Amino acid sequence: MKKMFLLVLLLAVSQFPVKAQTNESTVTLDASAQEYKIDKNIYGQFAEDLGHLIYGGIWVGPESSIPNIDGIRKDVVDALREIRVPVLRWPGGCFADLYHWMDGIGPRDKRPETINTNWGGVTDDNGFGTAEFLQLCKLVGCAPYFTGNVGSGTVKELSQWVEYVNSDNISTITKLREKYGRAKPWGVKYWGLGNESWGCGGHMMPEYYADQVRRYGTYMHNYGNYRLFKIASGPNGDNYLWTSVLMGDAGPYIDGLSLHYYASATQHTAADFDESGWFDIMKKSLKMNELITKHSAIMDKYDPLKRVALVVDEWGTWYKVEPGTNPHFLYQQNTMRDAVAAACNLNIFNNHCDRVRMACIAQVVNVLQSMILTKGDKMILTPTYYVFDLYKVHQDAMMVPVQVRLSNYEFDGGTLPAINCSASIDSTGMMHISLVNIDPDSTENVAVDLKAFEADKISGKILTAGKMNAHNTFENPNAVKPVRFADFKLKDNNLEVDMPPMSVVTLAVNGTIRMKAGTAIELKNPGHGIAYDYYELGEAERLPGFSALSPDSSGMLDSLVLPKEVREDNFAVRYEGFIRIPQSGLYTFYTNSDDGSALLIDGRVVVNNDGRHAPEERSGYAELSAGYHRIEVMYFQATGGMEMSASIKGPNLKKQIIPAGMLFTTH
Ligand code: AHR
Repeated sequence: MKKMFLLVLLLAVSQFPVKAQTNESTVTLDASAQEYKIDKNIYGQFAEDLGHLIYGGIWVGPESSIPNIDGIRKDVVDALREIRVPVLRWPGGCFADLYHWMDGIGPRDKRPETINTNWGGVTDDNGFGTAEFLQLCKLVGCAPYFTGNVGSGTVKELSQWVEYVNSDNISTITKLREKYGRAKPWGVKYWGLGNESWGCGGHMMPEYYADQVRRYGTYMHNYGNYRLFKIASGPNGDNYLWTSVLMGDAGPYIDGLSLHYYASATQHTAADFDESGWFDIMKKSLKMNELITKHSAIMDKYDPLKRVALVVDEWGTWYKVEPGTNPHFLYQQNTMRDAVAAACNLNIFNNHCDRVRMACIAQVVNVLQSMILTKGDKMILTPTYYVFDLYKVHQDAMMVPVQVRLSNYEFDGGTLPAINCSASIDSTGMMHISLVNIDPDSTENVAVDLKAFEADKISGKILTAGKMNAHNTFENPNAVKPVRFADFKLKDNNLEVDMPPMSVVTLAVNGTIRMKAGTAIELKNPGHGIAYDYYELGEAERLPGFSALSPDSSGMLDSLVLPKEVREDNFAVRYEGFIRIPQSGLYTFYTNSDDGSALLIDGRVVVNNDGRHAPEERSGYAELSAGYHRIEVMYFQATGGMEMSASIKGPNLKKQIIPAGMLFTTH
């Protein structure tokens, strides 16, 4: 059965009750190899008009005795703010392809009553529509993500929804918005073109749907500075043909391709399982890694620069509904098994953040693997909620590549890797390591080699339970909750962590990145200045591949400023030269840019601040010896605000814009 490594008496002094065995795994984290940012949108949520998610779970109406803000539950908003929900998808799901957005605007008492034919045939008074959803997003502090109706709607209808939400022009549609109380557009970026178009969204063939994406997308306009991020309905699980056809036929017309995959076991309710049910859900959850790897490989063929994001906008566990509830409402409990499954998925997404740049767990309140369950005016937080709370530290942090050598969790002839892990470094330089032990029986002793990261202070939190199906109820809402974790030891920059059975741990490691010292270059005839190349581009989401482009102009500058000839939109600049480092030591480099930028020292990416974004500062470290080092800075501007600066901090050097006096060229 289980591998018997060490029967550790030490466990007696461990914080948590553990069963008989301890296994061993090793994890290596290479902080010097950070390259990709973990997009915060990986921590997104999904809110479909289904069961008691919207009605009861979020929307109670302004007249309700349940504390609310403009009809939206205050307790739910507060809980979602706490886990920093970055993006929320609405109104479906399958519901999206039967939703006509005009039913949900204007005075609520005049809105039509419609039938939710997909989810139980219940009457929908459309009290929660476009403005209410956008108000919810504002309260939660997240970006809205609309799924447009491509199944039963029309091109005109979706085109006008975009106009209603984003246009500042004068038209009958925007006047309607003004009449209904909103003069200024909201400016929504994320738009889905249908949902599960291979299934409930119209049962289309991939070639036909790819044409629909091109057609619908053509009439979803960018108004003012609002540039849409269009997400096509992607494959169901392992339908690789769908990905291939969509990328081939519609790839250039989209910004994201969705993926839907559920770990389902619908014969039993959420808390009714034994170890075979546990193993089954772990196995199905870990399959996400294979799906992403294979879909990404197909996307790489069509899109090697990874412009199109893989958007896992439906994922999670799916069980039989709770007894006595409407089978169409998909209401399920949420146990320690779901928490561990969620953490496995989040580790997978973090580790694939080069391609996966958004994910939305299904669903946020009262449906499937929810964060929150409500009953009347009561609300409880699920074990899955607490995983999102533990993992929020990874949002927008730089992913640290992980290598693992694992022991196995074995059950009934099946084998799974017992441990999985992801790690990142945030903008303050703090490393966060999230570890999961999926084995419900054995403690895992995990040796973490921190390599280039010199650890100083460490703190931790853990989510675990004594029983696989432990869960929170309205009577006992705090049965499963994270607590402080201290079962780790640091010795010679190796961290040893004792992971109790079925546990999720996040460690915050304060420390310093130590890189191999970059050796200085001998420069013949150095002179002040830095060379640049200027490129005019089409619309871009990321830095271009400069080696394949010819510059529109080139020249010399005193410092890293924008050359005079830059236009307002859609261009890139690449600077190249040498920086003179005054004394050997650890240097921090920063870029602050709108849109993306990167800074390389001696050919290594030190600051990766890529992507289309508002002004944002990011930093990285380089240990350098005194003398000249090669420096490259790349910047691109899409539309809207334009900003770029590069700074340095080091021994006896306060943080400052890299001064002209440090920049050199050769003559
Ligand atoms: O999340 C529930 C349903 O699952 C969604 O409506 C649909 O897209 C998927 O099949």
